[in-house]
Formats: sequence, structure tokens, C-alpha cells
Amino acid sequence: MPDLLQRLQGRLQSLPEGLQAHIYRVRDVALELAARHGIDLDRAELGALAHDVCRAVPGDALLKMSAEMGVAVTEVEQDFPILLHGPVGAELLRREEDLTDHGLYEAVRWHSTAHASLDPLGKLVFLADKLDPQKAAIYSYQAKLRDMALESLDLALLEFLSREMATRLERGETVHPASVEARNSLILKLGD
Ligand SMILES: [Fe+2]
Ligand SMILES: [Fe+2]
Repeated sequence: MPDLLQRLQGRLQSLPEGLQAHIYRVRDVALELAARHGIDLDRAELGALAHDVCRAVPGDALLKMSAEMGVAVTEVEQDFPILLHGPVGAELLRREEDLTDHGLYEAVRWHSTAHASLDPLGKLVFLADKLDPQKAAIYSYQAKLRDMALESLDLALLEFLSREMATRLERGETVHPASVEARNSLILKLGD
């Protein structure tokens, strides 16, 4: 059987071109962050290539797949099912591509909301996704976030979660509970 990297690359070929391009840009950022922070380059690459494997799946199908695979769905996800593309993607890769690396699984699973339990690899994949240069239009502070991420994954993740949460609160939108807990845990950790 080809290794996970080859299997993932094969899988990516069936994704829409724009999504593939995003995934490969995220891979480049992930490798840069990994080199800077002494994180295994192979795992960083795998995490980046895997993170959006279900990004093109429509929301109603994600809800259906969640039910079939036993992925827990929060109220927030029920209302905005695209948030499930990480959890469903991780579970799909575990079942169909023998994704046995727990840290990689968690990195894919939580790349949209973050989670208090994320390890450095998970934080790296989360941030690399937001640091895709094409997302500069969405995140006006991306240049600053990139500098922060090169210095400290924790500080950058806290910065991102705080900014996005503030925006969502201001708009009267929901905030995923995992994001709230991730932010709380970073503040408590960094304040020690
Ligand atoms: Fe995603
Ligand atoms: Fe992504």
C-alpha cells in the first residue's frame, strides 16, 4: 500500500482545483512554521494536505456523514454544518486511509474551531490554514498574525481566536464552545 502522503495526494486530485491550490499553499506555510518551531516536517505536511479533505462536501451531507460515523454535532454545528468538515474529514481519513497518528487526527479535526487540547502540530495546522496568502482579504491582520506565528504558535492562536470571537460577538453570531475553551486555556497558560 502506498504511504499516507501518496494516498492523500491521490485523494486531493479529486477535489476542486481552487481547494487543491489552497491546500498546497497551506502546506507551504505549514512547512515554514514547522521548520521554525522544530516540528516534524513530514507530519506538518500531512496535516496540511489532510485538513480540508471534506471542505467541498455540502453541509447537509456533512450532517448525514456525522450521523453515520458517530461524530458528535453541537448546536452551533447543526446551525452551521460546514464547521463539521474537520471532524468528518478526520474520521473519514481514519476509516479509509488508516490515519492512525492521533496528533494528525486532532489537527484535522479541530482546524476550524481550535480546541483546548491541541498540541503544537494542531496549532500549526490551524494557523497555516488561516495564513494562506489568499486569505489576506478575509483577515486584514494576517501579516501581523504571520509574524506572531513564526515567534509563538500560542500567541498567534490566541490573537486569532480573540479577534475572530470579537467579530462574531459584534455581529451577534454564535461562537463554537471549543473556540471559547481553547482561548480560555491559552490565556490561563500564557498568564502563568
Ligand atoms: Fe477547512
Ligand atoms: Fe483550509
